[in-house]
Amino acid sequence: MRNVISLSAAALAVSLLSLSYAANSQSAAVAQTPPMGWNSWNYFAGRVTDKDIRDSADQIVASGMRDAGYLYVNIDDTWEGERDANGVLHSNEKFPDMKALADYVHSKGLKIGIYSSPGPKTCAGFEGSLGHEEQDAQLYASWGIDYLKYDLCSFHMVMQAKAPDDKAAQMRLMIAAYDKMGKALKTTGRPIVYSFCQYGWDSVWEWAPSVGGNLWRTTGDVSANWDRIYDLLSQQAGLEGYAGPGHWNDPDMLEVGNGRLSLAENRSHFSMWAMLAAPLLAGNDLPHMTPEIKAILTNRDVIAIDQDRLGKQGSRVYSDGEVEVWMRPLAGGALAVAVFNVGSDRLSTHPFRLSLTKLGLDGPLTGKNLWTGDKVTLTNHQPIELASHDILLVRVASPR
Ligand code: GLA
Repeated sequence: MRNVISLSAAALAVSLLSLSYAANSQSAAVAQTPPMGWNSWNYFAGRVTDKDIRDSADQIVASGMRDAGYLYVNIDDTWEGERDANGVLHSNEKFPDMKALADYVHSKGLKIGIYSSPGPKTCAGFEGSLGHEEQDAQLYASWGIDYLKYDLCSFHMVMQAKAPDDKAAQMRLMIAAYDKMGKALKTTGRPIVYSFCQYGWDSVWEWAPSVGGNLWRTTGDVSANWDRIYDLLSQQAGLEGYAGPGHWNDPDMLEVGNGRLSLAENRSHFSMWAMLAAPLLAGNDLPHMTPEIKAILTNRDVIAIDQDRLGKQGSRVYSDGEVEVWMRPLAGGALAVAVFNVGSDRLSTHPFRLSLTKLGLDGPLTGKNLWTGDKVTLTNHQPIELASHDILLVRVASPR
């Protein structure tokens, strides 16, 4: 009974917060489509420097990624230094001048993001924002920051210390911490994308938009490993109702071009993030990107699926053995259909047959294969053969 009462108190608090956020439209002005850009963590982790950020910004322009829509250049953890006697946070020796760095990134026609934690320390043990939220938000705005990733990290310990054995109270503390920074960002008057990173705890998709979140991680960390990527994308099935313009589910950043992923795996990873209306934050070594990886990351037809203005996340409609069929409604009545072989074999002796009936569609349907550029016709019971971990991604103009 006590739990029921405290949970409804939390629900009431969230509704009141929603009202206060609805009154302020700034959070709706950013991230009308899933944010696109690049983040330092997946490739550089704790080694990232000012020079790496500048070189990456240069490459985003030179590779054509900026023109394909990649806008945010995001510095993840390990930029933070110490606070001075006035509590003002300084960057560390790897980042000698944040304002100059932000100016440089802006001069390339790009935007810049930064990282912090509601706890005393970030996940890598650097200075967090606890007790300095307004001061830090003002500092970011004075540097020209356009995006904040706010990572729970050590705030989890604060929650446990303040409310031992009371999960509902811990959740309220977490919501309040995210709300506090959300309000501090709004007070700056600068449009700043607000990205929550608390690994999907406490069904964050239910409450993040009410405290100003533009995107929220739904899972633990991605890694450049096929099983992990498939695990994360599978966890998105069922969350499609929570995504929309200004507020997105985030299955974590892209690993396209990292580790030992095959080209099929890179294509499928990118295709599925587009089907999921996920943020497209590349995380690879841009100066050494191969032409094949560049072609994947800059495939404008696939990016157009991700950035579709309707903002509806795709869903897994059915699976048959090791083949999954996902569908995403697009603006103007168009559709994206993904047929995805998640198994470890090429399916040939017993070919998979596409069921348009299960998709609620009648054939034949004409569309475009977004990886070959070819015109395709989809018919009911059509056999489709796919290599292991490969995908057929088709845009159907308007089936009706
Ligand atoms: C957590 C986040 C990662 C990254 C690291 C940095 O693990 O989930 O995305 O930001 O912290 O320390």
